[in-house]
Formats: sequence, structure tokens, C-alpha cells
Amino acid sequence: MTVLGPTLPLDGLRARMLDQPLLPALSPERYARTHAVYEAASDQRSLLQSWLSTALPPLLGDADPVRVVGVGVGDGSVDAPLAAALAAGGRRVRYTGVEPHPPSAAQFASRLNGLDAPALTPTVVIGDFADHDTGHPADLVHFVHSLYYVTDLAAALDQAVCMVRSGGLLMAAVAPLQPLCALTELLCPWTGRKPWFSEDVCADLESRGLHVRTETILGKLDARDVLDDPRGRGEAVLDFLIGARSRALARDPLVALLDYLREVSLPGQPGVLPHPVDVLLTRVPGNVNVQDVLGDRGSRQR
Ligand SMILES: C[S@@+](CC[C@H](N)C(=O)[O-])C[C@H]1O[C@@H](n2cnc3c(N)ncnc32)[C@H](O)[C@@H]1O
Repeated sequence: MTVLGPTLPLDGLRARMLDQPLLPALSPERYARTHAVYEAASDQRSLLQSWLSTALPPLLGDADPVRVVGVGVGDGSVDAPLAAALAAGGRRVRYTGVEPHPPSAAQFASRLNGLDAPALTPTVVIGDFADHDTGHPADLVHFVHSLYYVTDLAAALDQAVCMVRSGGLLMAAVAPLQPLCALTELLCPWTGRKPWFSEDVCADLESRGLHVRTETILGKLDARDVLDDPRGRGEAVLDFLIGARSRALARDPLVALLDYLREVSLPGQPGVLPHPVDVLLTRVPGNVNVQDVLGDRGSRQR
């Protein structure tokens, strides 16, 4: 009998991490800084901004004022183009951003206040979504790259569903596990928590009988600096990619990690990585008892 050892680079990396200590977490400051560097190395952000400001507003009808709640808005760089598009033509927009990291929340506020949009009223709530009180029913509640981090996915979606008016929209932009989030899942020190990816969010919404429409935005991440100089020029992108301080990776796992990145690179472009994000769109049905689309809180442990 032939026993096969780990053949695929991800299996090799997993095997090499078995006896390794957890990597150090990113501080909130390093998280925010490396996130900005990471997004700048990808075209996903501009594709997403363009999608949000062109494809999303027509889905919201002509409510005036239109009410939006963004969860985990960071520095507001995806919210500003959406808010500006909604406020075009003088429509009143009530735009609330929920963000636990105070410096990012301040950037969100200054970015939205800096728009030339007199009919836009931005509000920022500094804190965790779980502590956010439901206000006036919203036309749109969105999570852009933030659902990974909630402790209890079902509870967060329950809360979001309760915040959307009948017929309003719930939108989550969240990456699928493959190819890049497999690294975050494996290497980020989740300390007992489970990260949530597109597949989890979609399954949770569908288990409530909700219809989910998925648009996949296919970005590309330029990680060539990571392959060439992982401890130097590529360090910030690598840190955000794995959700941890990559400098603490021992040599063997680092080599396996770089092999994986080569393996998943676009054909003929080593270091240029597929960087997809799924935009999951769910209309909260009108004329239903909201209890009917709530999850079984407490019994949804995955
Ligand atoms: C990857 S960033 C995305 C930021 C922004 N939406 C964007 O796309 O630029 C994730 C954001 O989620 C926020 N976040 C993490 N856990 C959260 C929670 N429980 N409630 C609300 N926001 C959270 C983080 O502080 C961070 O700003």
C-alpha cells in the first residue's frame, strides 16, 4: 500500500502548523493599517465601490428619506460612494455606521461629512453591533467584510433582519473560504471563535427560508511583494491575509504558505491572486411575521 503524505500546499501548511504556537494577533491599529495596504494592493475595493454605487441604489426604491445601517464600516471608504449615490438628486439619506474601532469610526464620520451632499445625515455609533439598539426600520442593513468577526452569526443576522423594514434589503459582502480565507481560517488566532465566510452566511439565511441572490465580484490581489520579500515589502499584505503577525511564522510554515500562494496564483502570473467577494442580497419579505425568519437563537451552534 502506498501512503500518500500531504501533497497539496495547503495540506502541507496545515501539517507544518500542527506543533506551532498560535501566531500573535494583529492589534486594532495594525489591523486597520494592514487592511488599508491590503486593499490598495487589490482591485476588489474599486470594483465593490462601483457595484455599491451603481447596482445597489436601484434595489432600494425611492424611499425619501432612505435609511441605511452599515455594520463594521471601518474608515467608510465603501460607504462614502454608496452614500453619495443615494443622496444624488437631493434625496434625504440617513446613514448610520456601526464601528467598534474608534479611530476608524472617526474616519468614517469625517469621510461622510466631507461629501458634498447636503441631504445626507451621517451618524456613527462606536461599538460592537451586538450592543447596537435597533432604531427606525432601515431600508438597507449591510455588512461589508465584517461578518467574519461576529461571535454569533445567527444572532447577528437575527438582529439585522429585525432592523430591516418589510421589503427592505439585507446585504452582506463576504469572501468565500477559497482560495484566500482558507489561510485566515488556518492561521489567524481565533481563540475559540469560529470565523464566518460566504458559505456560512448563505446557509444561515437560506435555513430561514429567505431567498439569497449572490453576485460574485472577481478581484485580483497583487501579492508579488509577499512572494519576493515576505518579511519586508510584503509583510503588511501577508499580515492581513493571514490575520496575524506573519513575522512569527517559522521558516517551514512560511515556505509552505508561499507555495500555496504560488499554487493559487492566476495562470502565468505568480503572486497575482484571485480575490473574490460574494455579495449576498436578501430581501426581507413584506407581510411576514419577523419571527418566522429569525434563527433558533441558542440552538445554532456550529
Ligand atoms: C475588514 S474591515 C471592513 C471595513 C469596511 N467595511 C471596509 O470594507 O472597508 C472589518 C471591520 O469590521 C469591524 N468589526 C469587527 N467586529 C465587529 C463587530 N462585532 N461589530 C461591528 N463591527 C465589527 C472592524 O472593526 C473593522 O472595521
